[in-house]
Amino acid sequence: MTTDFSHSQQYLPVELQSLKTGIREIEFDIFVKLSDENYVQLFSKSLGIDYRRLFKYESRGVREFHVRAEEFESYLRFASFTASQLLVSASVSREKKIASLISLTEQCLVQVFSLSVFDEKVIAEIKTLVNHFIAFVEVDPGALVILLKLISQGGYLYYHSVSVMVFSLFLARRTQLFSRQAVQQVAIGALLHDFGKTAPIDAVDLEHPVRGVEKLGNLIDEKSVIRKIIIEHHEQPSGKGYPYGLRGSEISVEAKLVSVANVFNSLISERPHRKAISTGAAIDFIVGQPEVFDSNSAQVLSLVFASSTKTPARRRRS
Ligand SMILES: [Fe+2]
Ligand SMILES: [Fe+2]
Repeated sequence: MTTDFSHSQQYLPVELQSLKTGIREIEFDIFVKLSDENYVQLFSKSLGIDYRRLFKYESRGVREFHVRAEEFESYLRFASFTASQLLVSASVSREKKIASLISLTEQCLVQVFSLSVFDEKVIAEIKTLVNHFIAFVEVDPGALVILLKLISQGGYLYYHSVSVMVFSLFLARRTQLFSRQAVQQVAIGALLHDFGKTAPIDAVDLEHPVRGVEKLGNLIDEKSVIRKIIIEHHEQPSGKGYPYGLRGSEISVEAKLVSVANVFNSLISERPHRKAISTGAAIDFIVGQPEVFDSNSAQVLSLVFASSTKTPARRRRS
């Protein structure tokens, strides 16, 4: 953070909302105004926008930022190029589209997990995001590898939530049991499955499914798949899961599917207390315990990942 004391410098205000395009790279520096003659630089052209920090400023009530007058034109170009435009533009590379999608998702999850903001606006944002993910998966199944590589650059809770969503999305599509609308619900439920977590993600927290649905409030319908996934994703067909010890068919198909994606992602991720295992070993672990994991989902998982991905998804420690 640097302070610009140059009195000759002219700054123009820009809206916080216009900076949330999902594009991190900027061709202008961004400042916050402390007084008429004192502007502090928050984000630079060389490092780009850090969305976590941007949300921290937002949570403190900062809504207005500034750019230098001579860079205002590049700001306008940036602001007019929205995420939706970028995602459908033929001139933007697949990698850049996915990177922007990841960035948008991160913005969304920072709101949901860190800032405890959960309202109709966030739900609408999540639906739009999930639809973008579904569109990507439909057009290009190979996008999974790129998605997971990019996701692993974030914090673990974020990485885990998005990965479980992507795995669930692939499983739901592959089973062909679900309509497009149902796939969307599965993806949203998977993205939010752990959002009742308050303890570190690796710690056993028996309360988080209940806390998660409480956090939803009455924003999501009582019978919705999203709610079922959040509350039931640690239930087991044997009845030994939590929080209710539901058995077999008492557990929804969607929650069983997300449960498999959840464990699969945990096993193939390196954590501070244990190493990642290979996707093949993770599948053997899941398929070998039909009393814990739904056999149908486990079967689909082995069809989707056993032959295509041989190396574990390693990540840096967070
Ligand atoms: Fe969980
Ligand atoms: Fe989880």
